[in-house]
Amino acid sequence: MSHLLTLPDAGALSIRAKALVFEDPGSVALLERVEQVAPTDATVLVIGETGTGKELLARRVHQGSGRRGPFLAVNCGAFSEALIDAELFGHESGAFTGASQARAGWFESANGGTLFLDEIGDLPLALQVKLLRVLQERQVVRLGSRKPIPLDVRLIAATNVDLRNAVAAGHFRADLYYRISVATLELRPLYERPGDILPLARHFLANYSARLGITGASLAPDAEQALLAHDWPGNIRELENVVHYALIVAPASRLTAVDLQVIQRSVAGASRGGRPLPATAAAQAADTAIAAAPAIDALREVFLQRLHAAQPDLFNKVEETLVKTAFELCGGNQVHTARQLGLSRNVLRTLLKRHGLLDAGHDLSEPAAPATAG
Ligand SMILES: Nc1ncnc2c1ncn2[C@@H]1O[C@H](COP(=O)(O)OP(=O)(O)OP(=O)(O)O)[C@@H](O)[C@H]1O
Ligand SMILES: [Mg+2]
Repeated sequence: MSHLLTLPDAGALSIRAKALVFEDPGSVALLERVEQVAPTDATVLVIGETGTGKELLARRVHQGSGRRGPFLAVNCGAFSEALIDAELFGHESGAFTGASQARAGWFESANGGTLFLDEIGDLPLALQVKLLRVLQERQVVRLGSRKPIPLDVRLIAATNVDLRNAVAAGHFRADLYYRISVATLELRPLYERPGDILPLARHFLANYSARLGITGASLAPDAEQALLAHDWPGNIRELENVVHYALIVAPASRLTAVDLQVIQRSVAGASRGGRPLPATAAAQAADTAIAAAPAIDALREVFLQRLHAAQPDLFNKVEETLVKTAFELCGGNQVHTARQLGLSRNVLRTLLKRHGLLDAGHDLSEPAAPATAG
């Protein structure tokens, strides 16, 4: 059974964010929970690593709530501490220097709808007190005003850190934690819901090939295997990017494992098995860095393996593979290849020669120069 839901009111979203693919048994169970929670007024806490689909899920909850007001998403980590008060709760004119006009805050703007507070763990402690008060009193008072404004706002908060650790460390108020975690929805990392990987890949394949005007895009069996074997530190967003990029660079519409450029990170993969959510800001930052640089990490693992195996010509092989791959990617164009690798064209030509890549067959960018051959 396919669980592809369309979110018709996701107006501000890019087209890629409008459908939910939930096929793994764990995801199907989560979706059932979403459908139970959505029509209630309960505050929801969405927990999940980066790129697991927290915002998409929050939109789904809003859509299932029947609320007619807007869905507004606010990133608590994106504001300066000085402004976040006014941003959330609004202000009257003259409330502070620079406040020339009165403005509604996010809570007021979301009235009748849903306010999504992303990265709630980043909310400064002083603001946490105010947020708690707003949730308890169901009204907001703009800065510089005394008049309370009644609120009918459904709050959904999201976090990619374990807030219980933040509570234990004194960074997050326990009373606010209990208040916002009335209903929790936990998105497991992608590698823990393998049944979602191929449906998601096909979903992104269809989506992006339509956008790119590619017809008949498909996944070769080795591509499917590579996708299933990867451990996806950047989760669904990483999968989406991998498929999108492969469609751009692949020479044919049937994508192979090589086109997808995912190398199994076996060592790192083993170490992340069953890992709980990152507990500290440092761990979270490290995670984000890994998600941003999976390729470098994968390379490191390969290098480590080869070094342990004491491969004698390792340096030469690595250099050759890098130069050859870039040269092929750029269709044999030396100028483009040099730019890709951040080298001067002379250095590139030296490397191409060294690895026997500068012959008539490879040097597509210009007529073969007999003097340089051999
Ligand atoms: N179940 C799903 N089906 C289809 N697409 C999904 C699904 N989950 C996530 N995506 C897509 O993956 C990308 C990341 O999702 P989203 O932005 O909701 O993740 P997130 O958990 O909020 O990430 P971050 O922690 O980095 O903010 C988006 O492009 C989203 O459309
Ligand atoms: Mg998000």
